[in-house]
Amino acid sequence: MAAPRDVTTTEGARGTDGGAMTLSRHILESQRQQPRARGELSVLLLQLAFAGKIFSHALRRSALDRRLGPTGDRNVQGEATKKLDVFGNDTIVEAFARSELVAALVSEEMDEPRQIACGKRASYVLCVDPLDGSSNSDVNGVVATIFGVYRPARDVGAAATVAHVRSGRDQVAAGYIMYGPSTSFVYTTGGGVHGFTLDHDIGEFLLTHPSMQCPPHGPYYGANLANVQDWDEGAQEYIRHLTAGRDRANSLRYSGALVADIHRSLLEGGIYLYPADRRHPGGKLRLAYECAPLAFVLEQAGGAASTGTAAVLDTPFESIHQRVPFAAGSRDEVAIFERFIRERR
Ligand code: AHG
Ligand code: MN
Ligand code: MN
Repeated sequence: MAAPRDVTTTEGARGTDGGAMTLSRHILESQRQQPRARGELSVLLLQLAFAGKIFSHALRRSALDRRLGPTGDRNVQGEATKKLDVFGNDTIVEAFARSELVAALVSEEMDEPRQIACGKRASYVLCVDPLDGSSNSDVNGVVATIFGVYRPARDVGAAATVAHVRSGRDQVAAGYIMYGPSTSFVYTTGGGVHGFTLDHDIGEFLLTHPSMQCPPHGPYYGANLANVQDWDEGAQEYIRHLTAGRDRANSLRYSGALVADIHRSLLEGGIYLYPADRRHPGGKLRLAYECAPLAFVLEQAGGAASTGTAAVLDTPFESIHQRVPFAAGSRDEVAIFERFIRERR
């Protein structure tokens, strides 16, 4: 086993004192800028990072530990679940079940919200997609965990419940943990977007992408083009616009994991689309734990996320597994997509 390294010699963005900027330090320094913060959100985010480390470790060993393949069951949305979906969900539940940090936990893999803490101090509703990109999991592809932390308006004295959440604007934090060649932790608490990379040797997330800014436009677009003929005319017309002309500068990138495609747009510019289609008349992606958290991240980085007709963050919550059409990434690209939808309505 390698000897532990001094984190102050690790590469990555540093604090004002020249020391390495770990995720814990970053979260605590942001907390200090909020005089009324009680520290619970900080612990919650660190607990998510802890779950991410466990999952990252398990994913690297999933073929060796026989954790690949389907369970044989289906989730509430009728999708076949993978062993790793269940493991990811269990890891998140385990991280929060006894913590009293969240009032309720909503997950793609659970039919109903899990009520965890009660009383007026139980302020947060945590919504997660434990394993985004399930179809990549058996082929050693990129997968991710998405999280949105909601602090809904509610009656004083009551624990927060999912019913109190009005829209994605009730989020106080959001982000994702992406398990690729390296493990990234990208988060916002409303003061910009910050990206960390897990240094496996020392078990710490270190700041590698401070104050991320999504380029206003960019060359990449990603969508499941097998569905194009089932899209609305406006969305079809938009794809024709992207692929027309001999000197076009656009390149298709579609990974099977929404987070990986959005991460590319965040860094290099572009757009990800999952419009409504015949099989998914209201869209495929889920508002509470996929679209709204990524929308919060993108807006904080200067990007945008739209249903085609409205900002994702303004879409009223109706149910926990509610789906919406989704177009997200660079601000200008999303605006052009919206124009195509508007003109064809
Ligand atoms: P999940 O694995 O959590 O069910 O999400 C999969 C999502 C998204 O990440 C991905 O871009 C899209 O669904 C893929 O859907 P298609 O296979 O229909 O293209
Ligand atoms: Mn997903
Ligand atoms: Mn999932």
